[in-house]
Amino acid sequence: TIVPVLLSGGTGSRLWPLSRELYPKQFLPLCSDRSLLQDTALRVGTAVNGLTFTAPLVICNQEHRFLAAEQLRQSRCAPRGIILEPTGRNTAAACALAALAVEDPDALLLVLPADHEVRDTAAFHRAVAVAVQAAASDRLVTFGITPTRPETGYGYIRRGQPMADVDGAFDVDAFVEKPSLEVAQGYVAAATYAWNSGMFLFPVGRLLAELAEHVPEVLAACREALDGGSRDLDFFRLDPAAFARAPSISIDYAVMERTARAAVVPCEIGWTDVGAWSALWDVGTKDTDGNVTVGDVLLEGARDCYVRSDSHLTALVGIENAVVVVVDDAVLVADRNRTQDVKRIVDRLKADG
Ligand code: GDD
Ligand code: MG
Repeated sequence: TIVPVLLSGGTGSRLWPLSRELYPKQFLPLCSDRSLLQDTALRVGTAVNGLTFTAPLVICNQEHRFLAAEQLRQSRCAPRGIILEPTGRNTAAACALAALAVEDPDALLLVLPADHEVRDTAAFHRAVAVAVQAAASDRLVTFGITPTRPETGYGYIRRGQPMADVDGAFDVDAFVEKPSLEVAQGYVAAATYAWNSGMFLFPVGRLLAELAEHVPEVLAACREALDGGSRDLDFFRLDPAAFARAPSISIDYAVMERTARAAVVPCEIGWTDVGAWSALWDVGTKDTDGNVTVGDVLLEGARDCYVRSDSHLTALVGIENAVVVVVDDAVLVADRNRTQDVKRIVDRLKADG
């Protein structure tokens, strides 16, 4: 069985002012008229290509439980459970919770960030089918994306030998999470590296063994948090004190950089990590001047801009390479090449209370 695990715990701070703590990006309709979470759930909602998915397991912050439950209901998705984190302890803990909650060591966890866009669903399903074969040899399977720029916020995978028995899957020679810019530039120049998409296919038994070996404190805290937790309809509440003891580390650093059993399935699936406003310009439909607009927007002599208004009529004249986002109570104007730094504004707002 393949159990989709929807990781929905991020805060999406670089998409301020649309993405807010109480309403982060995975719950927003950024790439279609459905939210990113809904699109992710729908992608694994049907049996295709001989793949059968069980109902998904959702892991999110407890503050977002009604948002998550209501959005899934609207998409006619009945989750097998929604695990509520009192505070995020990063993705190693979230993956550990999923592996422990599923209980069946032979099940495969298809871990999916709930805030990514995948434009080619058929190609995604083909890649998952290959990954299922690789996982059958007790591998932790990654999905490799052809890099287009030296992005330092991603993991990089060096492809090794093709797996003897699986067409389209390779051994992983090295996994490097978030390298420096110089190192990333070298990787992009070498044809043997792929970006880590952040989606994984994990055999439950193998994942538990790797967590026990590399981050036993994470596994122990998650086990206690589940044992001391309680179920309330679809929601599973963790024991907060136990879960707080889990070290905050991502699955990439905790396991993927260290395991000897990683495999990679290179794939072209129209993948985008909807991380910052520039990514929405990248994937958006452009007018003849290269502008992407959403909502009530008027442009005169603007080029290569992303403009979105959810409230006021917004007009730009003679501006280039800008991001302008207008909501009821805030306006963002940014250089399109610096939208990563929007996070700094959010950090300052938090510091000011
Ligand atoms: N439930 C839960 N709890 N989800 C979480 C938590 C948590 O504590 N922390 C993060 N997530 C979710 C995020 O919402 C996102 O969907 C996913 O897990 C990945 O977390 P990010 O924080 O976005 O990771 P990243 O973008 O820095 O890096 C990962 O993704 C890259 C591709 O987008 C890594 O896997 C990189 O190697 C990869 O290249
Ligand atoms: Mg991310």
